[in-house]
Amino acid sequence: MDLRHHGDREVGDLIDFAVNVFPLPRPHWLDDALKASLEDVHRYPDARGARLAIANRHGRDETEVLPTAGGAESFTLIARARPWQHPVVVHPQFTEPEAALFAAGHTADRVILDGDFTLDPAKVPEAADLVMIGNPTNPTGVLHRADMIESLRRPGRVVVVDEAFMDAVPGEPESLTDVRADGLIVIRSLTKTWSVPGIRAGYVVGDAGTVKDLETQQPPWSVSTPSLVVLAATASPGSPGEASKRAALIDQWRTLLIEQLPLPVAGDPRTPFVLVKGPLGLRERLREEGFAVRRGDTFPGLGPEWIRIAVRPPEETGPLIAAIEKVLQ
Ligand SMILES: Cc1ncc(COP(=O)(O)O)c(C=O)c1O
Repeated sequence: MDLRHHGDREVGDLIDFAVNVFPLPRPHWLDDALKASLEDVHRYPDARGARLAIANRHGRDETEVLPTAGGAESFTLIARARPWQHPVVVHPQFTEPEAALFAAGHTADRVILDGDFTLDPAKVPEAADLVMIGNPTNPTGVLHRADMIESLRRPGRVVVVDEAFMDAVPGEPESLTDVRADGLIVIRSLTKTWSVPGIRAGYVVGDAGTVKDLETQQPPWSVSTPSLVVLAATASPGSPGEASKRAALIDQWRTLLIEQLPLPVAGDPRTPFVLVKGPLGLRERLREEGFAVRRGDTFPGLGPEWIRIAVRPPEETGPLIAAIEKVLQ
């Protein structure tokens, strides 16, 4: 199984329902800030302003946050930070956490969920010294309860919650960014909601000791000046309004998508994508019709009958539904 396979590889010239980047234009203030950042690229990046802005946004100390080159960088920092003895990854989920552990010389133990893909905490081995879980989870769409995730904490264990899609959930009800607790690390990504995957912008929030260990692994100037500008601008007091508008749109569009889909959707998704079970060959036939949806079978625990469909505005979803109906005939 190729743990380094990601949806962007599947798009090519097709209509993109494989990648979960918000499909409308960025707010002008963000584009203005990005363009202005070019004035500063003759200097090395200085992360202090972005770090302070993120800390203020979450009511945390600067020592409890770390800007990263996208959420993805943090998986490598975590994998290298400690000599993990028993790392555990809760699947199906984004495969980079396990790929980063593997690249750092660790073999992860997998807890594989099925049914409605919610986690029974008793399934996590007591000996785990690192537990990695996504919330809400890619690709299942499950939003786990924050208190369930907190209950996974143990002395000597680090629990990493990948909240890359939490900003798509209105009000972020189950986010752990504001919870101060030993061994708790939250990863955030700005690339999807703010439509900037080409600008690698993310951060970590967590207990200062573990954050320090991650920082020790980070190459100098890892987060570029344009990325730091995105981090600071989207953490500013003006931005939550725009973020919640985007989250509300995703909610509406997802409801319409689920209503129209002639196929079963897994669980009760709270994400800008849904996981769908279809007949074998559906994904390939949709490609022939001009549509790219994300294959499910590169996620541990899922087979080729699963596809992941990105949530888009209704005028884009309609033609996809028509293509699915045609293929199912
Ligand atoms: C669940 C999840 N976490 C983290 C990431 C990394 O996001 P980025 O590095 O673009 O911030 C992704 C990207 O697809 C993802 O799906």
